[in-house]
Amino acid sequence: MSKLKMSIIGLGRMGMEHAKNIAALSNQLEPVAACALDDEQLATAKELGFKNTYKDYKKMLDEEDMDAIVVASPTDLHTEMCQYILKHPKKIHIFCEKPLDTNVTDETESLKVYHLVKDADIKFQVGFNRRMDKQYRAAYNQIQEGKIGDPQILKITSRDPFVIPIDLIKRIGGLLVDFTMHDFDMARYMMDSNIKEVYAKGGILIEPELKTVDDIDTLALVLEFENGAFGLIDNSRQAVYGYDVRVEVFGSEGMLKVENVNESTVEYYNKDSQSNKNPLPIFMDRYEHAYISELEQFIDSIVNNKPVVCSIEDVILAQRAAAAGLESLKTGKPIQINNQL
Ligand SMILES: NC(=O)c1ccc[n+]([C@@H]2O[C@H](COP(=O)([O-])OP(=O)(O)OC[C@H]3O[C@@H](n4cnc5c(N)ncnc54)[C@H](O)[C@@H]3O)[C@@H](O)[C@H]2O)c1
Repeated sequence: MSKLKMSIIGLGRMGMEHAKNIAALSNQLEPVAACALDDEQLATAKELGFKNTYKDYKKMLDEEDMDAIVVASPTDLHTEMCQYILKHPKKIHIFCEKPLDTNVTDETESLKVYHLVKDADIKFQVGFNRRMDKQYRAAYNQIQEGKIGDPQILKITSRDPFVIPIDLIKRIGGLLVDFTMHDFDMARYMMDSNIKEVYAKGGILIEPELKTVDDIDTLALVLEFENGAFGLIDNSRQAVYGYDVRVEVFGSEGMLKVENVNESTVEYYNKDSQSNKNPLPIFMDRYEHAYISELEQFIDSIVNNKPVVCSIEDVILAQRAAAAGLESLKTGKPIQINNQL
């Protein structure tokens, strides 16, 4: 089988991880071209094996021959870039980081991408990497096998280790749009049901500067699903002990829990009862394998013409849940979601 020619736009926190994984999957992929604004990042991409580098993504698309592309630019550029790629005469499969847009309250641009994808003969996968995490996937499979009977209550704890820079928040969106977005997708995935209603309470308990970008750092959500089940999500921007993400699904026949992954299995005890049980420090470490696995799934869907694991529908419905969360924060009321597309 010939290798898929793959390019990338964006080589920052997330994009560089994808670039390394593209290079690592050299038995299936041929790195073609990389685009970013930063010279050092572009130099690293060259070292990883990308033949050509660009600062202008349109020039890259016009000049380079490729089968697929990863879009890992800041979120406020995703709809523009995806529309350009989808309208390009070349047929290019797209892996786009989540979400599609920072503006979740106005879907105009996201829906343009949706319609272009529906009319194109290409695969479009979204970077909801947690679906490819081994632990979550194992829990999901057991729910599907009926091991806990009918799921009734979902609980997700999702806490970042530190507040990300304000300038980055301006480009990728605030807590509900960028961070909770993963939890909305995980909730829909685990419960195999759309979210029907969101009730949100949140505020600033950690970083007062977040007020300047109209954001919050602490959030509690109550969800109702279309299948009648309920959900609870709690988020924080600063868990001083590491990246704390746990999921529990309770059902009529039992319960499934996915705990944090620890840095080490070695436990140390002394008179102060200390042990090495802290979660991994940051999402990059926690989802190292999931990021490779999501690319492998993307390749598999292209090569074997299979459905993608996270579709454009999935991201639009997660964005609607985020929009409902924002509205609920503003009004203090639970907000219903229309899940029709
Ligand atoms: N799935 C996950 O776990 C996860 C984690 C982190 C970030 N993300 C997503 O990844 C995306 C990028 O976030 P990040 O934190 O890596 O951002 P970042 O700021 O670290 O990196 C952005 C990259 O895009 C490049 N860029 C900016 N403007 C550009 C332009 N006009 N043309 C070409 N390149 C341009 C920058 O040079 C940089 O390389 C966001 O959508 C974010 O939501 C996903």
